[in-house]
Amino acid sequence: MSVLHLLFLLLSLITISFLHCPITVTSHSVPEYHALLALKSSITSDPSSSLQPWSSSTHHCSWPFITFDPTTLSITAIDLTNLNLTGSIPLSIRHLPNLVNLSLAVNSFSNNIPPDVAHLSNLRYLNLSNNVFNGSLPSNLSLLQNLQILDLYNNNLIEALPADLAGIPVLRHLHLGGSFFSGSIPSEYGQFPALEYRTPGVTITSTVPSVLSHSLMSDRSFIAIGCHIS
Ligand SMILES: *[C@@H]1O[C@H](CO)[C@@H](O)[C@H](O)[C@H]1NC(C)=O
Ligand SMILES: *[C@@H]1O[C@H](CO)[C@@H](O)[C@H](O)[C@H]1NC(C)=O
Ligand SMILES: *[C@@H]1O[C@H](CO)[C@@H](O)[C@H](O)[C@H]1NC(C)=O
Ligand SMILES: *[C@@H]1O[C@H](CO)[C@@H](O)[C@H](O)[C@H]1NC(C)=O
Ligand SMILES: *[C@@H]1O[C@H](CO)[C@@H](O)[C@H](O)[C@H]1NC(C)=O
Repeated sequence: MSVLHLLFLLLSLITISFLHCPITVTSHSVPEYHALLALKSSITSDPSSSLQPWSSSTHHCSWPFITFDPTTLSITAIDLTNLNLTGSIPLSIRHLPNLVNLSLAVNSFSNNIPPDVAHLSNLRYLNLSNNVFNGSLPSNLSLLQNLQILDLYNNNLIEALPADLAGIPVLRHLHLGGSFFSGSIPSEYGQFPALEYRTPGVTITSTVPSVLSHSLMSDRSFIAIGCHIS
């Protein structure tokens, strides 16, 4: 490779990193920076040190597993899928108001899903599947009016399914299977405006999903309210 080539490569690299991470000084006054560090410190086990680069020595726009939007200077996505992480979601997650995508799928996150997640009003994609979240599903998740995809498959959630979820106007994919919810499926679940139900063996087209009886709810493999329209 010629010197010119090398120079060109170097320049492109600088340009690319400048576009995605325009700030060179660390910005400790930004709430998002603290929210990310709080998320990191709520992780009790990170065997591959995946989040080691999330440190005060660099600006958070350059940290791995996040997407930083240079126009709004904010975090729009966090993707910690399949990193063997153990931990929980800190309450300060609410300080990431421009978050559009959040995936913590395929880890060992536990404790409850804090109602503070409901403050992420721009969230369109929430994937917490294949973790060990316990406690009940916060009913004010229905405040997430832009949420299109909610995948909570395979957790240890308990208690009743919140009827309010049906008030999310654009929700088109809902997976609540593989947890331990009790009670029956709220009749409101027959009225999701944008959702199509495709549960194995059961198709719901009517307004009241009475076909999904209590007995189905007690069978872990059938609580899969698997729904998808792409
Ligand atoms: C969110 O995820 C969707 C689907 O994977 C993708 O098309 C979109 O660009 C992502 N948005 C952000 C802000 O990362
Ligand atoms: C997660 O753990 C599995 C099994 O120990 C290992 O094969 C894999 O590489 C780990 N992945 C990460 C990102 O640490
Ligand atoms: C949820 O899991 C955490 C951590 O494993 C535990 O301390 C807590 O008691 C559990 N809560 C419920 C409601 O089961
Ligand atoms: C959701 O409800 C919890 C408790 O019920 C409350 O503390 C929290 O502030 C609520 N979140 C929003 C966004 O309303
Ligand atoms: C959630 O994440 C898992 C693991 O990456 C993936 O298999 C699944 O398709 C995701 N769910 C949705 C609805 O995208």
